[in-house]
Amino acid sequence: MRALTYVARMSNAKIANYLPWNDRNGRFSVLRLSVFALALMPAVWMALKWNAGWLSPKPFTDILRESGDWAMRFIVLVLAITPLRNAARWNRVIAVRRMIGLFAAFYLLVHFSFYFIDQNFVLWRIAMEIIRRLYLTIGFVALILFFALAATSSDAMVKRLGSGRWNTLHGLIYFAAFLSILHYFMQVRLKAYEPSLIAGLLIMLAGYRLLRKKTGGLAFMPLVFIAVFGAMAAALIEAGYYTYSMNAPFKVVLESNLDFSALEYSWEIRPAWYVLAAGLAFALIPVLKMVSDKLISLRSFSQMKTETARHR
Ligand code: HEM
Repeated sequence: MRALTYVARMSNAKIANYLPWNDRNGRFSVLRLSVFALALMPAVWMALKWNAGWLSPKPFTDILRESGDWAMRFIVLVLAITPLRNAARWNRVIAVRRMIGLFAAFYLLVHFSFYFIDQNFVLWRIAMEIIRRLYLTIGFVALILFFALAATSSDAMVKRLGSGRWNTLHGLIYFAAFLSILHYFMQVRLKAYEPSLIAGLLIMLAGYRLLRKKTGGLAFMPLVFIAVFGAMAAALIEAGYYTYSMNAPFKVVLESNLDFSALEYSWEIRPAWYVLAAGLAFALIPVLKMVSDKLISLRSFSQMKTETARHR
């Protein structure tokens, strides 16, 4: 009986470790539960739209596109976690990095599965398409890389590979993200808004990684420079895309991308401005953290002084 109770307790502890809303010690975490619930929303929304018949006459293509979009957004999010931890010195946020990465892999699996369904599961045709169409070949290489990263994301795999080799392997996420954005642009059919926004954000995130590697920190001025650089890159990429695909005059498109007053004619703020806003907001995080740390230490210093005065 005692042995049975022991086994039951052990398996309960094991299950608790694997529940997505528990941390690695099996304790309930509000942060993990919130991220899990939010990350599941797009899938629930897609299922709901399917069920309610709110999709177009080609529902498989709709889900294929929407899951691809969400996979791309989760890839940006997972890359933002480490810079956020470093800038805000918020170590607990790392507890959701793997979860967000696995959600990116999940939406990719949905994306690829719906391509399979869309092609009526005809394997040889799918293989031929992937070989023949460059944007699918690129997507396929990215997919293999992402799945390799997801499969080696556990603690056991970090131990098995050793942290040096594991970090080198997981550094490939930037290459996979680059291939994904290329895949996105190559089939986007004149809707370059979101891919330009994502490309700008990815360039900014790569900049943070480079900055930390070179200087060991995230100082305010270099972060502002990276924000401006990322925004300029988004504007250039968007203008480059329209020039390449529509023969639009590069200079005119670039000027309108950078002209905030163009808002008078169209309510759409161009992607470069969102990239700039995100980058500047991020640059403020270490500053705000420093100010709040100073205020806290000042307050505890004055509390200590009052306590000492009272005891005299
Ligand atoms: C073998 C792997 C892949 C296949 C076969 C595939 C297939 C496709 C196809 C056929 C489309 C065009 C849908 C359409 O507009 O008709 C598409 C779009 C897209 N794919 Fe993939 N894909 C693959 C890998 C990836 C990867 C790794 C990503 C990374 C996130 C990705 C993200 C996207 C995105 C964002 C779109 C655009 C969706 C939109 O138009 O809103 N795909 N993919």
